[in-house]
Amino acid sequence: MRALTLFLYEAVTHPGKVGALFPSSKRLAQNIAQNIAINPPGLVVELGAGTGAITAALINQKSFFHQLIVIERSVKLSRHLTQRFPELNVIHGDARQLHKLISPYTSFPLQAIVSSLPLRTLSPCIIKNIGAEINQVLIKGGLYIQYTYSLWGKPSCPSSQLRLIHQQWVWQNLPPARIDVFRYE
Ligand SMILES: C[S@@+](CC[C@H](N)C(=O)[O-])C[C@H]1O[C@@H](n2cnc3c(N)ncnc32)[C@H](O)[C@@H]1O
Repeated sequence: MRALTLFLYEAVTHPGKVGALFPSSKRLAQNIAQNIAINPPGLVVELGAGTGAITAALINQKSFFHQLIVIERSVKLSRHLTQRFPELNVIHGDARQLHKLISPYTSFPLQAIVSSLPLRTLSPCIIKNIGAEINQVLIKGGLYIQYTYSLWGKPSCPSSQLRLIHQQWVWQNLPPARIDVFRYE
């Protein structure tokens, strides 16, 4: 199945868990990935990788980190990611089990989490659980990068230990998006 068709299928069958009608644009993906270059090398984890638009941009930034792991809850999308990126560690799993899922790979410090999770449509309880997992795994000073389609709304993030340090608006995306970059304190 082509990536767009697959994405639309998931968006229609699980709207609250996908939270979008289209995959991320190349421009959004590049702008997100560029934030990775500012931290020391380590492990990068992508949550809710979908069709892999952001994954592809992160792979292009690979000189800035040691290892990339992507986590995706949909069986179909994680299968698609494995086929698209055969060299990559693709984990079919739920971000609520982040700590357990990445524990086999923690020979490098977790320096950044890139999230496509639809925080506006996930339940507060799920977001709280994901936040607790992030607090367990992200290094002090590590980055949490989240995008949202709520261009002017309050930045949402799963943990109160994340402090907003940077925002960027990306108009070349459908719909336009805002990138919120947080630092773990
Ligand atoms: C907005 S879409 C990602 C779009 C992606 N950037 C792309 O370009 O295809 C959100 C993704 O998060 C995944 N997701 C939602 N809740 C999740 C969870 N608890 N754990 C892991 N993945 C989750 C969905 O299955 C979906 O693929």
